[in-house]
Amino acid sequence: MPPPSPSASLRQEAERFVRQYHAEHPQLAAEAGAEGGAVEARLREVRAEIERTGTYTHSPAELTFGARVAWRNAARCIGRLYWRSLVVRDLRAVSSPDEVAEECFEHLRLAGNGGRIRPVISVFAPDLPGRPGPRIVNDQLVRYAGHRTAQGRWAGDPRSAGLTERARALGWKRDQEQFQVLPLLVRAGPGAAPEWYELPDGAVSEVPLRHPDHAWFADLGLRWYAVPAISDMVLEIGGIRYPAAPFNGWYMGTEIGARNLADAERFDLLPVVADRLGLDRSSERTLWRDRALVELNVAVLHSFQDAGVTMADHHTESERFLRHIAQEARHGRPTPADWSWIVPPVSGSATPVFHRYYDPVDASLRPAFLAREPHES
Ligand code: ARG
Repeated sequence: MPPPSPSASLRQEAERFVRQYHAEHPQLAAEAGAEGGAVEARLREVRAEIERTGTYTHSPAELTFGARVAWRNAARCIGRLYWRSLVVRDLRAVSSPDEVAEECFEHLRLAGNGGRIRPVISVFAPDLPGRPGPRIVNDQLVRYAGHRTAQGRWAGDPRSAGLTERARALGWKRDQEQFQVLPLLVRAGPGAAPEWYELPDGAVSEVPLRHPDHAWFADLGLRWYAVPAISDMVLEIGGIRYPAAPFNGWYMGTEIGARNLADAERFDLLPVVADRLGLDRSSERTLWRDRALVELNVAVLHSFQDAGVTMADHHTESERFLRHIAQEARHGRPTPADWSWIVPPVSGSATPVFHRYYDPVDASLRPAFLAREPHES
């Protein structure tokens, strides 16, 4: 048998999604009344549109539902209890890099919300037959530049070395700061040359880090941004791919305190913090790494709280996740989860998410957030 044509698999995925949408909105069937057939009517419409145009258009309600369920299906995310509250910005009419950048900045303002972080997704134009949608090159809307200095040391975030180099090649000027926000790189389609945009003041909110008991901590000059907004994943709903659909939640403290600032491949601050704490680094057995990690995490949580910026601690977020699983079970739905991503990177066994297994991850679950393939970047 020949492989199914692109539009045959689109048709299948579209049908699967429309049925799911209606199954989870039983009120639509009730509203359709005695004639019923709300699903059948929508299926006929979608099939006809695919037949005619090779694609179809989600209704605003379908788009909102699809984006929320993509979050619900994200097996690596511990924060899914609030999936229904995701604010969905329908920006499907927006595709030029200038406008995409402008709307990404507006996204950051809306999500930042003066510190009361709101989960938001901005959905830009989809990939259509012969008409690809825009792409955001950055992996997050806000990222700190990083480069290796002439002395062979790292300045900034090594994780962003590639992006920093690309921005520089386009004419962006980096400085020697530890926390310099990168510009946003946006392209009109796969392979198109990126345009770059400096993030405007007011779009990026950052929190300077202090420790409640150690005045010297502030002198380290550490900071982190308030809104983690993933911008390099494809949102796939009912066979339609939205390649530019940046989304954010709020931070859990350990993402910053136990990974971004602590990993040896990132800001690598454990030795620095341990020395300032006066810990004995002559042997691993003093657990200087562990003690430095805890104090770094105390500082992150304290500073965000003090600045009035939403942040979860790993104990509370773990407990919420188990509530989420129980709530989903009451709706008859499994909660696929990836243990190695769900368990926090510090004090795992002190949180309830450590002590159990989860429904297996199912790569065919849709709607979903998917990694962008290299050829479609
Ligand atoms: N771990 C990533 C970071 O530290 C962010 C991933 C998304 N996190 C979130 N809380 N929504 O930047």
